[in-house]
Formats: sequence, structure tokens, C-alpha cells
Amino acid sequence: MMKYSFCVTTNRGLEDIVAREISVLVPDAEKLEIGKSRVYFEANKEAVYLLNLWSRTIHRLLMVLGRERCKSLEDIYCFVSSLDFTGIIDRKQTFAVRAERSGKHKFSSPEIAATVGQAIIDSYLRDTGASLRVNLKFPDVEFMCYLVNDDFMITVNTTGESLHKRNYRVYNHPAALKATIASSLIMLSEWKTEEPFLDPMCGGGTIAIEAALIARNIAPGLFRKASFFFERLLPFDRDEYLKVRDEAERRANHGVYSITAIDISPRHLKGAHLNALSAGVHDTIRFIKGDARFLEKYMDIQPRVVVVNPPYGIKLTRMKHVPILYRDFLKSLKKVTERACLVVITAATRVFREACKEAEISIVERRLILHGALQTTVFKCVIG
Ligand SMILES: C[S@@+](CC[C@H](N)C(=O)[O-])C[C@H]1O[C@@H](n2cnc3c(N)ncnc32)[C@H](O)[C@@H]1O
Repeated sequence: MMKYSFCVTTNRGLEDIVAREISVLVPDAEKLEIGKSRVYFEANKEAVYLLNLWSRTIHRLLMVLGRERCKSLEDIYCFVSSLDFTGIIDRKQTFAVRAERSGKHKFSSPEIAATVGQAIIDSYLRDTGASLRVNLKFPDVEFMCYLVNDDFMITVNTTGESLHKRNYRVYNHPAALKATIASSLIMLSEWKTEEPFLDPMCGGGTIAIEAALIARNIAPGLFRKASFFFERLLPFDRDEYLKVRDEAERRANHGVYSITAIDISPRHLKGAHLNALSAGVHDTIRFIKGDARFLEKYMDIQPRVVVVNPPYGIKLTRMKHVPILYRDFLKSLKKVTERACLVVITAATRVFREACKEAEISIVERRLILHGALQTTVFKCVIG
């Protein structure tokens, strides 16, 4: 079967977790290679159906059409116009080119996009005699180009809008975590779905809902309202995709899992409940209005895995409250469990490290990740 080259985009700092997920979802994936916010691999075209439907950690799956050293716009034009686009886009379809660059160049990203657009039109005209039309707002086909120093790559977007938008979110918490980060943190915790799971500062419920979707084996792509972009690309077959989709619907289970979500704010907790209802997993999450500093008041089972995104002291909570909150939360957590894995994402890095020291909790792993524009740290800790 023909192999294609792919590149997925994801959260910076979580690429290894994404690579692991790809190798589980697409067992025939080869040549997995980790880049910055990117993972590259080769696989057959079923990977496009599987990853767009099932991946919990990727943002976009891009099919790589070519990669070349390019120093100038002329180099880019020559390279792109030498490619064959007739197997990708139909003559009646419209297209857009998006470009991003990093490094020192004498030209801008819009100039790269314009150059690539012209090269695609010229290549298609040469090969078919037809002139492709551009539609920047609602294109049928979206080409994404990246120039990093002199490393140029042209891809076609198989996903469309980023997969981190899950569509089940009906309540938008003001400091909501991206669903792809939430899922990656759960994977980092190595949670076994039969173990009690806790998010003690759940906000809009993203972490608990993603945990429930993992436990019930529900493919996140099933929530998508818009079509995937691959459905309009020539290499892909709608019937093959529908088979993979039907199979995904069959594989979901309706089990009941021990997932607890706590928040001090009744408004956020109500929002979390609405989000869980919209995701169809409200019946396997126990929502409790409570204070994470006094977990012993609410927890009648010992959590084995705790994944939490506490306030950082930036958006919602004043910084002066954060050290006390972290310290008291960790002390309380130690009272309710003898043994657990704790994964925390926070921008208040120093405060969290000090709280761990005071509570005698050991940090076993640390990684820097970007949440939007904010530099955060993910800590993995063991209790007991
Ligand atoms: C950064 S937000 C969590 C966002 C969440 N991960 C999401 O995706 O929607 C932190 C949450 O901690 C809650 N919180 C603050 N102090 C708390 C406490 N002492 N006990 C429980 N929840 C608390 C806030 O109400 C807020 O909803």
C-alpha cells in the first residue's frame, strides 16, 4: 500500500506523548520523528481517518507534499511549481495558502503564501490546462507552508479547524485548558481506567471529561460538527472513512468509572456539568462543590491518579493566595491517599516546587509547555 508523509502539529513540550499516541493508533506508522510542536511520520492513508477521528493530542494532521532547502522566494517558486497537484485538488475546487516562517528572511509570510499560490496555479495550468481559483476565506483545499531558516515544507491540511476544539464545550471557563493538553497530561499520568481519578480544581471540567472519554473509548472526532478537510481531497475515499467512523461508534463503551471533579465555584461546577452532559459522560463523573484544601471532607475513596490545573495567580486568583492554596492542597491530598500519581500544570513553577518540598512530595518529571502564549510547567509527582 502507498505510504504518505505526514506532519502533525501539537502543543510544544508534549510531542513525545503525541508520537506515542500515533504509534498506538496507527501501528503501521514508520519513521516517527519529533520536531518542535511537530511530529513527522510515514503511513498509509488510513492514518488520516484514524488520527482525525481518534487522536486526543494532535491539533492538525498535515500531508507533506514536499520539503526542500530554499533560501529565496525564487527557490520556493521553483520547488513548488515542480510539484504535481493534480492528484490533490480537482480543477473545480478553490484553494488558499497559509504560510508561517521563523528565522531571518528578507521576505514576509504573506509573500511566501503569494509565491506558493502562484506556483500552484502555474503547475496546475501546465499539467491540466485548467486555472485554479483562490478563495482565502472558505477554500476547498488549504495548503500550509512552513519555512524554518532555509527548511521549506509544503503540506495540505487534512483536518481543517484544530482538533483541540472538541465541540462538546458549551460552557467556556475563562481559564480553560486545551483539551489536547488535558488528554496529554492524563496520558503522562499513566492512568489505568479502573483506578480512582481526581481533578480537585476542575473549572469547566476539561480534564475530567477527557478522562471519561478515554475510559469510555469515545473518539473525540465524533463530536465534530464541521467536515474534515480530507473529505474534499482527491486521495481520500468517503466510504473508507465512513467505515472507520462506524467502527469508532461501535467501539465506545458505557462503563461507569471512578472520576471525581471538584471546584470551589458553583458557577464553574455547573458549567463543568453542562460540558460533561454535552459530551455524554456526565453519568460517570462525580461533581462536588468543594475546596481542594480540605479534600478529606469529600473523598471517601483514595484517588490513585490526580491531574490538576490549579490557578496560577494570573487570571482568576490573586498571586498572594496561590502559595497557601498549593501548600494546603498538597497536604490535604496526602491525607486522602497513601499512594498516587499527581500531574500538575502551572505557571507558578517556583511556588509549586516549594509547596512540594514542604509537603515532602517528590517531583519525578518536569517539562516546559506552552499553553497559548503562556509558558507553563508540567510536574509529575509521586505520593507514597
Ligand atoms: C485554571 S482553572 C481550571 C480550568 C480547567 N482546567 C478547565 O479546563 O476549565 C482553576 C480552577 O480552580 C478553582 N479553584 C480555585 N481555588 C480552589 C479551591 N481552593 N478548591 C477548589 N477549586 C478551586 C477555580 O474556581 C478555577 O475554576
